[in-house]
Amino acid sequence: MPHRPYIVGNWKMNGTRAMLAEARAIDRAAGRYPDVQVAIAPPFTLIGALREAVSAMGVGGQDCHVNAKGAHTGDVSAQMLVDTGADFVIVGHSERRKDHGEGDDLIKAKAEAALAAGLGIIVCVGETLEERDGGKAEAVVSAQVTASMPDADAAADAVASGKVAVAYEPVWAIGTGRVAEVADVVAMHAQIRQQLLALYGEIGAKVRILYGGSVNAGNARDLLAAEGVGGALVGGASLTAEAFLPIVAAAD
Ligand code: G3H
Repeated sequence: MPHRPYIVGNWKMNGTRAMLAEARAIDRAAGRYPDVQVAIAPPFTLIGALREAVSAMGVGGQDCHVNAKGAHTGDVSAQMLVDTGADFVIVGHSERRKDHGEGDDLIKAKAEAALAAGLGIIVCVGETLEERDGGKAEAVVSAQVTASMPDADAAADAVASGKVAVAYEPVWAIGTGRVAEVADVVAMHAQIRQQLLALYGEIGAKVRILYGGSVNAGNARDLLAAEGVGGALVGGASLTAEAFLPIVAAAD
């Protein structure tokens, strides 16, 4: 792995203040794994409280607007995420792509806006089951990487300092309990790595490529040991310390 592994919990639309106790427990344990970078992306409503509740781990947003401010009801800007204590933001998650009709151009603009605000980014890509069954997985992911990653001009400093990550999340593996074959993950990560090297030059080696999709305590060790897997983006199994900490431990 080019850097220490990065284990990120995406709480999605889950969590009220009662869940801060889980975050504290995760944070206390994260301090025992200094070789693993641990972070949680809670709903917007919890970012500030989480930031104050934890010390060892990162705190991020799950989305941001492309603009810094303005008449965009319900949206939150990258600057606002910084202001409330976030270190990074996830952009282009398949649930944003599907539920909100977000396309690659918008995702790229969000990624560049986040970098300009000083946030790290995790850009998500991944094919649907129909695309995989149709033999199009590689082409779909390749097109997403090409069109949604920030330009080298906008991203070089962040790439060089390890603040840029890609999450390969096959859509059919998210929340389904169905995990991609390790060999398929390795092949897709290798393809993404080649694209990152072509896009950013040799510093493209510093972009961590995470796997996401039904990662849990039982499968994390095999996935995280696989060639080219730089960490995991974890949904359901990040909601409790009991489920999340074995994944952190598996990365150590
Ligand atoms: O962002 C996380 C991914 O969508 C994976 O979610 O671990 O619940 O399958 P999951």
